[in-house]
Amino acid sequence: MSFKRFLSTASLVCTALFASANGFAIDYVQNALARENISLNGQWNRIIDPYENGYYNHRYQPHTTEGYFKNAQMKTPSDLIEYNFATADKIQVPGDWNTQEEQLFLYEGTVWYQKDFALTKQADKRYIVHFGAVNYQAMVYINGVKVGSHEGGFTSFQFDITDYVKQGENSIVVKADNRRERNQIPTVNTDWWNYGGITRSVAILELPATYVEDYTVQLSGSDTTAIVAKVALAGSNVKQGGSVKVSIPELNIQEVITLNKKGEGQITAKANPQLWTPEAPKLYDVTIAFNGELIRDRIGFRTIAVDGEDILLNGKSVFLRGISIHEESPLHDGRAWNEDDARTLLRWAKELGCNFVRLAHYPHNETMVKMADEMGLLVWSEIPVYWTVMFEDKAVYAKAEKQLTEMITRDKNRASIILWSMANETPSHKARLTFITKLAKKARSLDDTRLITAAMDTQGNTANGKIIDDPLVAAMDVIGVNSYCGWYGGTPESCGNILWESKYNKPVIVSEFGAGALQGLHGDKDERWTEEYQASVYEHNIAMLEKMTALRGATPWILKDFRSPRRPLPDIQDFWNRKGLLSEQGIRKKAWYLLNAYYSKKEESSN
Ligand code: GCU
Repeated sequence: MSFKRFLSTASLVCTALFASANGFAIDYVQNALARENISLNGQWNRIIDPYENGYYNHRYQPHTTEGYFKNAQMKTPSDLIEYNFATADKIQVPGDWNTQEEQLFLYEGTVWYQKDFALTKQADKRYIVHFGAVNYQAMVYINGVKVGSHEGGFTSFQFDITDYVKQGENSIVVKADNRRERNQIPTVNTDWWNYGGITRSVAILELPATYVEDYTVQLSGSDTTAIVAKVALAGSNVKQGGSVKVSIPELNIQEVITLNKKGEGQITAKANPQLWTPEAPKLYDVTIAFNGELIRDRIGFRTIAVDGEDILLNGKSVFLRGISIHEESPLHDGRAWNEDDARTLLRWAKELGCNFVRLAHYPHNETMVKMADEMGLLVWSEIPVYWTVMFEDKAVYAKAEKQLTEMITRDKNRASIILWSMANETPSHKARLTFITKLAKKARSLDDTRLITAAMDTQGNTANGKIIDDPLVAAMDVIGVNSYCGWYGGTPESCGNILWESKYNKPVIVSEFGAGALQGLHGDKDERWTEEYQASVYEHNIAMLEKMTALRGATPWILKDFRSPRRPLPDIQDFWNRKGLLSEQGIRKKAWYLLNAYYSKKEESSN
């Protein structure tokens, strides 16, 4: 039975907007760093606090007046204050702490951040503090008062601090804690480095008293001749009504949205946009004007759908020539966060012959997905429901759902993102099925304009090879399969003979395959860790892929060697996962050329 499902924009975001009224969705200022803002990037003062002495007293009760969040200064020589941010060591923001100081390389615990900032406070403005991400737990204080806390190391969050900031000098303090706990998302065991700290940009947004908080500008479902623009206000007087101007000059769109009593509204405008594709990533300048604020964005228009085993981009079947990427900088040690990091990683993917990237295993920074829009790479974006999270625990589910909502809310206007991934390599059992099926349902309620997937390693064995029969697939649009034939099982040569069956009439993406190799280490093709062994694994896995009838894409593991605390093998790994096609310096290994040749052939055959 061919099953055609075009995904209408009608329900995109409106669910989220209305849901915010009942506090389910998050309040989030869309496209935050494009707003009027004071950047707090740069040098901060820092205090390492392994015993959380700055937060708890000796009775292990949270401090009320004494805590480091007070940023207290001695007033008289006899004052007793046993910390001092002003004379403390410095740390760069954005940036993980692990690669900034040797003593913090393996540190898991609390670090306090403090920075002074000057503000010319205006009565008719609102002030929102925006964090791109803090790993893992963050508590934020303005002038000694707690303004909010956040859990989850890979999604943006904001607090309205208008009532806490004052004219002139202000102090912001952040308690960042990257300790791993069983009931977190991700949980205690991951194959990536637990980089701690304020890892992405921080800014104070200065917005009109009532402002456009949320907006979506997308095609109207599969109708490529109509654009829907939705807006929602926030701030002091949402019910004031009025109108918002939406302009897309290149499409002669100059529309006025009349707001309803809830401060929401939308229009549909006829237009004939050039559709966004990786080969021609056409973006349109969009402006949204309200209450003296002019918001600028660059948005592409495209449709994405599934039809049986096909993935249709703008109605045309597409093969996703991809690679998996961790959010590690190609230019310096540690977390990636800026444009140069993003441009370089995506250029490396393009050079490999990719039109698609899997951003593993957590939402990457906003700069990365905007760069994918600009450079023309389709994106798989994922939340870190990774391996053995506590699926039975309702509170853990709520954490996963919140991260999912934060991811979708931040990136819903990005044309490059076509897939929301709910999870990676989770064990097949009832609680997990319920947990992830519920997440998929939530994702569709927030955004049913994109495809839902998950990376699974639950395939069964058959006489001829493998069978995809995981019940979780029922909740997915696209099947993600992780398979490590030739590395975690079988010889490289055996992989080419494996035949894959699927119980489902759905597209398959092989979301991981690969092997480790130390760049520059050469030997026989059956000698582990040599480039020849890795190349052999690629040769035979590519032969296996070519036999998979439902295959519509691949994101081999992985673009670049990356840090992992699970990889201690001396002189080979030294805390690096060596499955990159590039070394951590970006040097190509033999297998790089095999995948590049395979993708050039694929590209030719798709033209
Ligand atoms: C897993 C997992 C990755 C991990 C990789 C590996 O499949 O999804 O996060 O790094 O295998 O073992 O190298």
